[in-house]
Amino acid sequence: MRIAMTRKIPAVALETLESSGADVVVWPEQLPPSPERLLEHVEGAEGILSTLNDKIDGSVLDKLPSVKVVSNFAVGYDNIDVDACTQRGIAVCITPDVLTDTTADFAFALLMSAARRVSESHQSIARGEWKTWEPLGYLGQDVYGATLGIVGMGRIGVAMAKRAAGFNMTVIYSDMYRNESAESELGVEHVEFDDLLSRSDFVSVHTPLTPETRGLFSTEQFKKMKPSSILINTARGPVVDTDALVEALKSGEIWGAGLDVTDPEPIPADHPLLSIDRAVVCPHIASASEVTRSRMAKLAADNVLAVLNGTTPPRCLNPEVLTRD
Ligand code: GLV
Repeated sequence: MRIAMTRKIPAVALETLESSGADVVVWPEQLPPSPERLLEHVEGAEGILSTLNDKIDGSVLDKLPSVKVVSNFAVGYDNIDVDACTQRGIAVCITPDVLTDTTADFAFALLMSAARRVSESHQSIARGEWKTWEPLGYLGQDVYGATLGIVGMGRIGVAMAKRAAGFNMTVIYSDMYRNESAESELGVEHVEFDDLLSRSDFVSVHTPLTPETRGLFSTEQFKKMKPSSILINTARGPVVDTDALVEALKSGEIWGAGLDVTDPEPIPADHPLLSIDRAVVCPHIASASEVTRSRMAKLAADNVLAVLNGTTPPRCLNPEVLTRD
């Protein structure tokens, strides 16, 4: 059984795969493979342990007839064409749950950092600009008691709402599905997206990237937000129109942003977004704690082995392929 890992991930993945007797090849470089080199690397493999950098669609799969499972080292899977996998009888697996709290911790860290200008004021000191305690310097937005609008009340949205409760925040959410348990257990209120935009002091994005959510935040939406509001995105960069966001921040349509994900990603160092003080931008690290990345690695490896061994993988998106002859 041949398994290709498209990046080095925490060691437990390789240990788990090799202990099953599989022949495992690991992409050796720091940067992900180009599409051409990805094909060469995974050729002949039955299992692919992929990352969100690998685009795996029908045209790629047509060149890889031996593949039985694509196991993404991520909860998001917009890099994989799941329908194309299902049509070819290929299982697609992901790593939910194990990263929920770590990701919500980071979303809340971005919220606080953007609101209270943590990163910006640190950089200002490092540039030698801070001369004395300032009555009028670095004034931010209060977090406690504010209204948090959560876009997408799934696992991470719920974890975010729980954190907000500790700050006496009012939490409203928009989602195409009602989350009634979150409503009854956490007292969150379901509202229309436009209401969420106009009522929220903080808007935090926790929706997957789909054709419907691509560009969900653009000029029109920023105009509906409060001038004191802050946008947090730990989901996927293309949910937000970056040019429109830069404009909204520059014109004061919104006050600030905390972004773990951007479009493009990586964002070039000379991108206008990075010259805006009130935008805190991080390199897609919301799930990046030592423990969580290891848990994700173990789950991703377990998913591959389960499919290849004919047992039920812990986290499969298209289990119908597993029961086919
Ligand atoms: C990270 O962005 C993930 O989807 O796990």
